[in-house]
Amino acid sequence: MGMEPPQRPDASDSPETEQPLYGRNAKVGPTGRPVRVIPEPPPLVRHGPARIIALCNQKGGVGKTTTTINMGAALAEYGRKVLLVDFDPQGALSVGLGVSTHDMELTVYNLLMQREVSLDDVKVKTSVDGLDLVPSNIDLSAGEVQLVGEVAREMTLARVLRSAVEDYDYILIDCQPSLGLLTINALTAAHGVLIPLECEFFSLRGVALLIDTIEKVKDRLNPALELDGILATMYDARTVHARQVLGRVVEAFGEKVYDTVISRTVRFPETTVAGEPITSFAPSSTGARAYRALAREVIAR
Ligand SMILES: Nc1ncnc2c1ncn2[C@@H]1O[C@H](COP(=O)(O)OP(=O)(O)O)[C@@H](O)[C@H]1O
Ligand SMILES: [Mg+2]
Repeated sequence: MGMEPPQRPDASDSPETEQPLYGRNAKVGPTGRPVRVIPEPPPLVRHGPARIIALCNQKGGVGKTTTTINMGAALAEYGRKVLLVDFDPQGALSVGLGVSTHDMELTVYNLLMQREVSLDDVKVKTSVDGLDLVPSNIDLSAGEVQLVGEVAREMTLARVLRSAVEDYDYILIDCQPSLGLLTINALTAAHGVLIPLECEFFSLRGVALLIDTIEKVKDRLNPALELDGILATMYDARTVHARQVLGRVVEAFGEKVYDTVISRTVRFPETTVAGEPITSFAPSSTGARAYRALAREVIAR
């Protein structure tokens, strides 16, 4: 069965028609905090040094990859130079940006394992201006095994990203759903962690372990590491359940929870098939506007 590309929504859709996300007159957002509109960030005259953010949660399917793509694209729309690092052997980030990696010669695996391979050899441009990608494929799972035997095995990603810090404003690392050596590498390379959390009953399970891992990495490997924020994803405002879960998340993490909440919508699976971010695929959709709002929060923090 051939997969039909999803219909591109109204081509006249434009980011100019920015509507309030939570209803025209809403005074409180889904987090229960007053709605505040962060103005568009001023353009940059110079780029770098980059803030490196690891998008991390050992649970799969919570929106790590979707957030990496769309927050990355939104930051790029605001004139930021952004490098996305696909750090999951599944390669979903690469696929979601329309980059086919199964027969690709150079991926993040080569960057990690071969000293003679440089970041410039591996990174590719995406369809979005200012948004570059270090792709990944299944080779990375062999890389994880090989890394175990390396000297300073937790620092490998930090070392290979060092040369990019001056060129970019943000480097976003899309982690695999585990707390294994690859994720430890991402946390060691990062300045901040962004945790996407699904608004589902069991979402808080496992978060304690994740926070504990972040603390250990901070203690032993990367003292500068910070928890940047918790992003509520897959939110359905119509269900009491989702509202209750979000309430618990805000209770547990307070100000660390971003005001921006990502609603559940089929638009995201569609954009994966289209191989482009929602910000360009459906520029005025709620999803695109939410990720722009998140990007403004990230820039403002
Ligand atoms: N807000 C959302 N609403 C509906 N579906 C979503 C949303 N965010 C992500 N998805 C879909 O859920 C699946 C898992 O998301 P993904 O970003 O790949 O999670 P992870 O990287 O944490 O495993 C994908 O099919 C994606 O398209
Ligand atoms: Mg993923």
